[in-house]
Amino acid sequence: MYPNKIGVKSSTGCIDLRSDTVTRASPEMRQAMAEAVVGDDVYEEDPTVNSLEERCAKLFGKEAAIFVTTGTMGNLLAIMAHTMGRGEIIVGRTSHIHRWEVGGYARVAGVCATTLPINHDGTISLESIEECLCVGDNHRPQTKLICLENTHNFVGGKALPIDYLSKVRKLAEPYNVKIHIDGARIYNAAVKHNVSVAEIVKDADSVQMCFSKGLGAPVGSILVGSKEFIDQARLDRKILGGGWRQAGHLAAAAHYALDHAIEVIKKDHERAEKLAKSIKAFNSSKIKVDDLNMTNMVLVTVDDPESAVATLQKHGVLAIHFDKNRIRAVLHKDIDDDGVEKAISAFKALV
Ligand SMILES: Cc1ncc(COP(=O)(O)O)c(C=O)c1O
Repeated sequence: MYPNKIGVKSSTGCIDLRSDTVTRASPEMRQAMAEAVVGDDVYEEDPTVNSLEERCAKLFGKEAAIFVTTGTMGNLLAIMAHTMGRGEIIVGRTSHIHRWEVGGYARVAGVCATTLPINHDGTISLESIEECLCVGDNHRPQTKLICLENTHNFVGGKALPIDYLSKVRKLAEPYNVKIHIDGARIYNAAVKHNVSVAEIVKDADSVQMCFSKGLGAPVGSILVGSKEFIDQARLDRKILGGGWRQAGHLAAAAHYALDHAIEVIKKDHERAEKLAKSIKAFNSSKIKVDDLNMTNMVLVTVDDPESAVATLQKHGVLAIHFDKNRIRAVLHKDIDDDGVEKAISAFKALV
């Protein structure tokens, strides 16, 4: 048993490394939100939402897009629209969709899942996917969808290997099994591999990306895919109560976030690397960095995560107790170079 995902509560003045979801809108972003031209989005008349959806469809190289409240909603809509309540999905055992979305795929989308282990690099082994694909056996649920996560949160925000998706596609395509990417942090993956987001998702049928993580907007996700798929997702979004009205104020924040995405994410990666390397340089048996090949996250192994988190908090830094013996620190736009130095000093107290 581990504490809930976030654990300690934010206190003013702390360096908050619990997640990249904790960012606040900058004054410039707030200005853009205040000035947004808006309309009723259920009538598809909000120009700022419409332009965001068009922009994202192009950005991801897909036909269409829909702006939704959260990553959880985007993922659930993808599962609903791809499966239409039939069959099963294949999903990583430690993926967000399976572990942290309250089982929505079963309860709301009405499908079951084959869950498979996640490798150290965030992939699911191709052999195990192939073994589980089930099409045409009338005793078993038919595989409709494979869900991947890029970057993969549970292995510390690793970007999946660049050629992995096309290999999964080769397995799935002959059976008409679709591929959905939970790309809550797909920008981190694209920046890590130095490719465009369109390139990194070209073999996926759909992608969900969060504006409210490293991109720094307060709310919102985008779901992209074929026009037919997005039309279905739009109907399903209404079922979930996700048809919103003057959402252009939020879409304006998302536009602003996209304008600055690459520079912000690059900085986060540099700062995460600095923190990870500094902890490694302590050369202590009491605190070990899991891996240096990450994006904006640093996973650290300690003997007693609960007391490590408490010690960090005493030194003005918030991190989360991630699992049995690891804590997680996430870099984001509200942590500057000075914040990283403070974080390094706090981690030193764990040595
Ligand atoms: C990988 C991943 N997918 C999806 C989500 C869900 O996003 P939201 O909190 O906006 O529902 C998260 C949130 O932390 C995440 O880390």
